[in-house]
Amino acid sequence: DGLSRFSNFPVVDFTLESERNAFPASIAKIRSRMGGEVPLFINGKEVRTDVHLDSYNPADPSEIIGSVCQAGVAEADMAIDAASEAYLSWRDVPPRERAEVLLKASQYLKDNIHDLSATQVLEVGKQWDQAHADIAEAIDFLEYYAREMIRLGNPRRMGRAPGEMSQLFYQGKGVAAVIAPWNFPLAISVGMVSAAIVSGCPVVYKPAGISSCVGYGLVEMWKAAGLPDGVFNYCPGKGSVIGDHIVDHPKVSVIAFTGSMEVGLRIQERAAKVHPGQQQCKKVIAEMGGKNGTIIDDDADLDEAVLGVLYAAFGFQGQKCSACSRVIVLDAIYDRFIERLTEAAKSVKLGPSENPSNYMGPVVDKAAQENVLRYLEIAESEGNVLVKHEVSADLKATGGCYVPLTIVDGITKEHRIAQEEVFGPILSVMRAKDMDEALDIANSTRFALTGAIYSRSPRNLERAFNEFRVGNLYLNKPSVGALVERHAFGGFKMSGVGSKSGGPDYLLQFLDPRLVCENT
Ligand code: SER
Repeated sequence: DGLSRFSNFPVVDFTLESERNAFPASIAKIRSRMGGEVPLFINGKEVRTDVHLDSYNPADPSEIIGSVCQAGVAEADMAIDAASEAYLSWRDVPPRERAEVLLKASQYLKDNIHDLSATQVLEVGKQWDQAHADIAEAIDFLEYYAREMIRLGNPRRMGRAPGEMSQLFYQGKGVAAVIAPWNFPLAISVGMVSAAIVSGCPVVYKPAGISSCVGYGLVEMWKAAGLPDGVFNYCPGKGSVIGDHIVDHPKVSVIAFTGSMEVGLRIQERAAKVHPGQQQCKKVIAEMGGKNGTIIDDDADLDEAVLGVLYAAFGFQGQKCSACSRVIVLDAIYDRFIERLTEAAKSVKLGPSENPSNYMGPVVDKAAQENVLRYLEIAESEGNVLVKHEVSADLKATGGCYVPLTIVDGITKEHRIAQEEVFGPILSVMRAKDMDEALDIANSTRFALTGAIYSRSPRNLERAFNEFRVGNLYLNKPSVGALVERHAFGGFKMSGVGSKSGGPDYLLQFLDPRLVCENT
């Protein structure tokens, strides 16, 4: 196909002075421009509404990132109508041409990676390296799905019966509604949106309210890539106002969602109901929560294990569906591991993410802060507090959405803190007498997203391979940071429905297979 083999965009190299300097420069640049009105973008045109939602910096809520126009039902309908109209021509654009648009979009992200990273640092409180990784992942999705569509775009001859030419090929299902989360605000948005678009499905995109300015980056990106009008529609709005309406709409064929289990289950239930005028069964792809465990075997390399758990539990404040929220430690190594982990956790610095010396920043907004503090009370009542980094008075005075880094032990599988997803920096430590019990605890939630094990024992690694039943299992690696293709990502049980993002089956969810057989 003339394209190089897919490879992941490189991680940021802070040994280069140019890279180190680029971040503060971009943060200053974005800061000098931000705060204005952000319009909707429907059928190639900006649309303004009277209702706005101010998106703020979680490190300093007085700093407004953008005043985002909110779609109501009328604007959502406009967007769905535009996408529905665009579908009639976009579905027949050759797959290769659709893929070319993604490659141009990828180039736009590469050219603007520092400014896009800076927007995330300011809007959701991501650390520099993690913001950069988010843009890198978005680039990877574009590059990978472009190649995937080229692969799937060639009709496949079925059988070799004489006198017959039978071919199987794919067409886009129709309008896709993409309902995106704030935690990987560019990567997951671009992943779901580009998969739909390259498959021939025009998109109505509803970003999360608190990351809508990052979400606006998709408007700029598709404009730069020359995507035809109506194929991508930016439609931010409150879930309570337009969420159900979009899901229920008879012209929507696919709903791609990433977010909480509660919302994911609601979408699946509503999407099953057929509404007047509806011509097709709706397809739901829902990537939901996790309650991910990491097992520490009695022969684990503790240097690796401590750093890995710390990063998986507290990187981006634990706000990842892949985050480690339960560490399951074998009896024989329990005291040594806990001592090392608590020491390491005590050295974690908390403060604004725009200062790269802070390992942990604020959680994403005031509601998230309240939620984590509620779970902190539950954790304290159920277990023993090993570490609780109180937020300093200085930091409190900034009004930022900080919460303490917390580690509790004495947690068993019946506890709420061992079963419910917190989405914040609270780590439960659970003790296991042997590997049987460790695996039993690891599998004891209704989620099955990620997991990890640190062990030097080939036998126990093999047992984990077979018996630790999650979507993405990492052996001697943290449970976060999946890379497109290499770590195609997604879970099962209550962690979601649909196949792995960044994997070889993902686009098929947006496609209907057709077969044409000719008697020759
Ligand atoms: N893909 C992310 C990770 O692996 C989670 O969405 O951390």
